[in-house]
Amino acid sequence: MNKDISNTSSLLGNSVPIVELREIIKQVAPTDITVLITGESGSGKEVVANEIHLNSRRANRPFVTVNCGAIPEGIIESELFGHIKGSFTGAVDSRKGYFEAANTGTIFLDEIGELPMQTQVKFLRVIENGEYMKVGGTKTEKVDVRIIAATNKNLEQLIAADSFREDLYYRLRSINIVIPPLRERKGDIKLLFDSFVGQFCSRNNIEYKGISDEALAYISNYNWPGNVRELKNFTESIITLNADRRIELGDVLKQLSVPRYDEPMLPATVNGFKREDERQLLFGALFELKKDIMDIKNQLVHFEAKGAKVPENGFYVSDDKIDNITFDEFEQELLTYYYSKYNGNINRIADKLKISNRTLYRKFKQYGLKNGKLN
Ligand SMILES: Nc1ncnc2c1ncn2[C@@H]1O[C@H](COP(=O)(O)OP(=O)(O)OP(=O)(O)O)[C@@H](O)[C@H]1O
Ligand SMILES: [Mg+2]
Repeated sequence: MNKDISNTSSLLGNSVPIVELREIIKQVAPTDITVLITGESGSGKEVVANEIHLNSRRANRPFVTVNCGAIPEGIIESELFGHIKGSFTGAVDSRKGYFEAANTGTIFLDEIGELPMQTQVKFLRVIENGEYMKVGGTKTEKVDVRIIAATNKNLEQLIAADSFREDLYYRLRSINIVIPPLRERKGDIKLLFDSFVGQFCSRNNIEYKGISDEALAYISNYNWPGNVRELKNFTESIITLNADRRIELGDVLKQLSVPRYDEPMLPATVNGFKREDERQLLFGALFELKKDIMDIKNQLVHFEAKGAKVPENGFYVSDDKIDNITFDEFEQELLTYYYSKYNGNINRIADKLKISNRTLYRKFKQYGLKNGKLN
């Protein structure tokens, strides 16, 4: 029997698309059918995947989330399927893969469009018959997992560019849950905002002092390019910065002009992870933000000292610098610029620069860029 999830769901919203989404979840959750979830970054793909798991007969079994874009191409097969001791240099021990870790439960493969072509073949085989081979292994392994995949890329475009297999796409596409961006369900914004305020205030012992009608109207009509994640981060920041008073329109406008950072993308997690100390993390994030503002201020002083004109927006390298800059330094400046411009949203930066998320992660690493800044 299907459980009624409408009251307990962490997928909030009363808009028509969200009500329909809950219906679809109710229908697909009890089966083992493979599901593809598509939607813009921050729109709730992981929330939907989690809901499917929690409403399935596997709810008490592992839920393994794998971010395919965050794993270097060279080790992705060993990460997913495991490897046998001695199968490659450095494989000093055998290793369980994420599929094995998810056995009897659900595996959620995020950013599926980032899976290398040769790994897609292996993946298709697991979908079809639950079989795979460990790297360096000779025997076929069997696994019992429910597979959920997600992407914010257009897979048809990836097929046209020969970076995604058509057969895998058709296999995945049979059940495709599409999550509309938040701007197409603005009626949910107030409810989401209230809920994030409630959760955040109770977790941090903050007494909420309310919000003015104009401020709330602005939030409700804003387009939220980073979707629900952006709204959630925004809510937490604005409450923290105005904990002692009512939120006014000016506070909202000010906060929306500050770059916000994405949550770090971990390569994989098993059954989520507890944030040991939310307050610590939050203050850490605020501290980082303050450091960024100081950095920007310093850069501006530097610019002005050199008599350079600071552009209102856009990427700018001063004339004297361009004469001496190396290609690597230029690339590093460009990446830092886009990190800040797109609030650290890896997907948007990669889209903008027409490179894969994987290449972007590699470049951030190469330049010692963490959170878009030099370590
Ligand atoms: N309908 C919703 N109700 C409550 N919270 C939501 C909802 N949708 C998203 N969120 C929250 O917004 C944040 C982003 O959601 P999620 O991680 O599922 O997005 P995503 O689509 O997987 O993003 P990405 O493409 O960047 O991986 C999370 O903190 C999640 O809890
Ligand atoms: Mg996600």
